Amino acid sequence: MNICKKTRYIEVDLDYPEPEAISEAAAVIRNGGTVAFPTETVYGLGANGLDPVAVEGIYAAKGRPRRNPLILHVASIEQARLLVKVWTPLAERLAASFWPGPLTLILPRAAVVPEIVTAGLDNVALRMPAHPVALALIERSGVPIAAPSANASGRPSPTLAEHVRADLDSLIDLVLDGGPAVVGVESTILALNGECPLLLRPGGVTREALERVVGTVRLHETARPGAAVGDAELDGGAAPCPGTMFRHYAPRAEALVVTGDSGDQIDKVRDYLTAHPDRRVALLATVEAAPVYLRMMRGDAAWAVPAAPIHMEVVGSRSRPEDVASNIFGALRNCDQAGAEVILMEAIPLSGLGLAVMNRLYRAAANRTI
Ligand code: TXA
Ligand code: MG
Repeated sequence: MNICKKTRYIEVDLDYPEPEAISEAAAVIRNGGTVAFPTETVYGLGANGLDPVAVEGIYAAKGRPRRNPLILHVASIEQARLLVKVWTPLAERLAASFWPGPLTLILPRAAVVPEIVTAGLDNVALRMPAHPVALALIERSGVPIAAPSANASGRPSPTLAEHVRADLDSLIDLVLDGGPAVVGVESTILALNGECPLLLRPGGVTREALERVVGTVRLHETARPGAAVGDAELDGGAAPCPGTMFRHYAPRAEALVVTGDSGDQIDKVRDYLTAHPDRRVALLATVEAAPVYLRMMRGDAAWAVPAAPIHMEVVGSRSRPEDVASNIFGALRNCDQAGAEVILMEAIPLSGLGLAVMNRLYRAAANRTI
């Protein structure tokens, strides 16, 4: 489908989202249009989740495969209850603990949920975002808002309105610009339709935090960093997360995960630069290793390499995965803009938000490592 729209951009104040801006965006939603809006995780591309034609507009703008279902965003637990067959005690406990926030719950869907939202599945994904603009927009629209991340399908998720513009300008109706999305990785997706809560996608709520509330949470095979892409249907009988079957978060450059501790990583990066002097290499570096890379880039004799990295993004400390999470998607886009052919991305430990970070980096790299 060919779309050509005049996309409007409105800046909103986070502490006090202007009622006019929200009303205007809500009117677009109610009229069947598409609105990109900030959430605490990443920007979403929203449409009326009860209107199949409006939802069609999301798939078209993103170029998203129709087999990949959407999350319905709600402004209250009461609104969530109307969208599922049974709102279970477990769902209630999780929502009470983590909503509003970066947790998406998967439950058997109610008949009011259009098929296009769930891509024909019997389950629906629900989340109440912890962002004043998102909540105000859902409340004002009076309908659940279907919203994937507001990037072109396959690209890194947008954490700034500028990223949305780069991917979707002239394809959507409106962008509410609320500044940077602070968490930086998408919500954790937890399936509650099986016997035991099953984590389908690690995200803004850590597995450790979930387990403190509900006990053991199993990790779906495809949620593990480095799991093969395309095997989402292997976990016999368990709810698959269709999105995990598709190439994701991909920068234009070839991305490679650099494994090991900080010392190993520095050695591997130096070896790579030495072996590939003809390539334009950018780095996603931790605070720990960045000073060494800076010396390479400055041509320090002790760290001489035949061709220095052309660009470096310092994403945070290995011991502060929440900082790394908030920076990775923007950093990947910046490396592309700097003209990188290859992006070497330092791995961080898997605890806390590190699991979500590494899940995204492995996907961006299509599991390639050095
Ligand atoms: O933080 C987030 O979750 C962001 C913000 C905008 O809320 N949204 C987001 O949506 O990341 P999206 O579409 O980029 O990723 C949603 C994932 C997809 O992998 C999709 O396959 C999966 O959720 N999903 C949606 N509905 C599902 C369902 N009924 N069963 C299983 N997986 C589902
Ligand atoms: Mg997405």
